Amino acid sequence: MRAIGIDVGGSGIKAAVVDLAAGDFAGERVRIDTPQPATPDAVVAAVRDLIAPFPRDLPVGVGFPSPVVDGITTTAAHVDSGWVGAPACDLFARGLGRPVTVLNDADAAGVAEARFGAARGRAGVVILLTLGTGIGSALLNDGVLVPNTELGHLQVRGRDAEHLAASAVREREGLSWGEWAARLSEVIGVVDSLFWPDLVLLGGGVSRKADKFIPLLDVRPPVMAASLRNRAGIVGAAAIAAGAARG
Ligand code: BGC
Repeated sequence: MRAIGIDVGGSGIKAAVVDLAAGDFAGERVRIDTPQPATPDAVVAAVRDLIAPFPRDLPVGVGFPSPVVDGITTTAAHVDSGWVGAPACDLFARGLGRPVTVLNDADAAGVAEARFGAARGRAGVVILLTLGTGIGSALLNDGVLVPNTELGHLQVRGRDAEHLAASAVREREGLSWGEWAARLSEVIGVVDSLFWPDLVLLGGGVSRKADKFIPLLDVRPPVMAASLRNRAGIVGAAAIAAGAARG
C-alpha cells in the first residue's frame, strides 16, 4: 500500500509517496518554500502544485502545525492567522479534488515513530518532541496516540517552551550545544513533572546531530533520538491517510 504524505511547516512544505510496508519514502521527496503569508488559499494552492507529479489515486495525508479537531485547524503559530478555525480538511479536499486527512504535524511524526521507528513495540508513555521552527509534541500510551497535545506551548520560566528551546531558537540566538541542551533540559523537566513519561524521543531535522546534545541533557526520563528524523511527519501523515482510506 502506498499513500502521499505532506508536511506543512512554517518555512517549507514537503511531500513524498510513502511505501507503508517499508515505512519509508517510495521515491524522491519534493519541497517548496511555504508561501508568505501562508494563508489557507496560498498553502492549498502550493500543496496542489507540489503533489501534481504524484499519482492521483493515492490517499493523501497532511500534517499541519496546529491542533486539528474534526478537520478544523484551531491555532496558527507558524502560519497565517486565517487558519484559526479554518475547515482545513474541506479546504484541502476541495483544492486537491480528492479526500484528504489532516492531522497535527507532530502527531503524524509520533504515529510514524510508533509504527516504524524508535517507539515501535514500546509499552508505557512515550512523548515525542519535534524540534524545528517550533516544538511539537505527540503523546503515546502503549503505542496509541492521544492527539493534539501542545507541549511546545507549556510555560517555562514565563515563556512558551518553543520560544525558549526550538531548534530555530538555537540557530537564531547562536546558542552552543551546551546552552541549548540546558534549555531543553528545563523544557523536558516541566514535561516530566506533568506526565512522568517512560521515554522521551526528540525528533526534527536536528535529531541527526543527537550526539551533540542528548548526552548533555540533565533530566530524569530516558531520552533518545527519534529514528525517522524529519521523514517522520510525512510517513505518519501517509500512514493515517491510508488507514482512513481503508475505512
Ligand atoms: C504548534 C503545534 C505544532 C508545532 C510544530 C507549534 O507551534 O502549536 O501544533 O505541532 O508547532 O510544528
